Amino acid sequence: MFALEGVAKRYGPLEALAPLTLTIAPGERVALMGPSGGGKTTLLNLLAAAFPPDAGRLSIAGRPAEGLRPGRELARLVGIMPQGFDLVPSLAVVHNVLAGRLGEWGFARSLASLVVPRERELARTALARVGIPEKLYERTERLSGGEQQRVALARLLLQRPRAILADEPVSAVDPARAEALLALLVGIVAEEGTTLVASMHGVPLALRHFSRVVALRRGRLVFDRPSAAVTPEEIEALYALEDAGTRGVA
Ligand SMILES: Nc1ncnc2c1ncn2[C@@H]1O[C@H](COP(=O)(O)OP(=O)(O)OP(=O)(O)O)[C@@H](O)[C@H]1O
Ligand SMILES: [Mg+2]
Repeated sequence: MFALEGVAKRYGPLEALAPLTLTIAPGERVALMGPSGGGKTTLLNLLAAAFPPDAGRLSIAGRPAEGLRPGRELARLVGIMPQGFDLVPSLAVVHNVLAGRLGEWGFARSLASLVVPRERELARTALARVGIPEKLYERTERLSGGEQQRVALARLLLQRPRAILADEPVSAVDPARAEALLALLVGIVAEEGTTLVASMHGVPLALRHFSRVVALRRGRLVFDRPSAAVTPEEIEALYALEDAGTRGVA
C-alpha cells in the first residue's frame, strides 16, 4: 500500500523525519509510536501526500505519490482522520458525514446530495455503524470530542479509501471509550481489508489493536516490529526523558 525509500522531511533546520525506508502492505494495521515531536504526524501527512518529501521516493498503491492528483484520485486511496477531525463545526452532522463522498462525486454533486433522501440514508447508516444514529441533524459543534471522532469515522465509511491514516484517533475520549472506539475502527478496517496507520499515545491500547509498531523518536526510526515482539524495556527507552534537561541540577 505504501513504499518509502529514504523519505525525509525538514522544517527549516529541524529534521522532522530523517530518511526513512519501509513498506506497509495492504490490510496491515500499523501504530506509530514515540514521544511528542517524534515525527508521527509528519509521517502521516507524508503518507497522505499532503506535502511532498524533501528527499526520497514515496509510492502509494504502487504509484509515485507526486503523480497522484489531489481530490478524487487521492481520496480513493487514502482517507485521513486528523488530530482535530477536520469537521465543519457549524454544520449539521449529516453534512459532515456526506463530505466523505466528495472524492467520488466532486463538490457540486456533494452539495446537491444534501437534498437527496437516499444520501441521507447513507449518512444515517454510517452513523448507526459508529453508534450515534440519533445525531444526524445535530450541529456538529454540540457533540462531545468522542462523538466528533465517530462522525469523522462515519465520513471515512462513506469515502471508503484503501488506507486510513488516523492521527491519535482516540485522544479525545476516556479510556473505556477509547477502547470501544478503537475496536470499532479496527473492526471496520478488518471487514473491508483497509490498511490502517495511526499515531497512538496509549501503549497497551496500541499493542492490543495493531499488528505492527513503527517507533519514532526525534524523527528517527527506533524500531519497527510486530506488536507481540515489542518489550516493556523498548517502550521505556522509547519514551525516556532526555537527560539534558537535568544536567547541572545535581
Ligand atoms: N509546520 C511545522 N513547522 C515547523 N516545525 C514543525 C511543523 N510541524 C511539525 N514541526 C516540528 O517537527 C517535529 C515533528 O513534529 P510532529 O508533529 O510530526 O510530531 P508528533 O510525533 O506528531 O508529536 P505529537 O505526539 O506531539 O503529536 C516537531 O519537532 C515539531 O515541532
Ligand atoms: Mg502529532
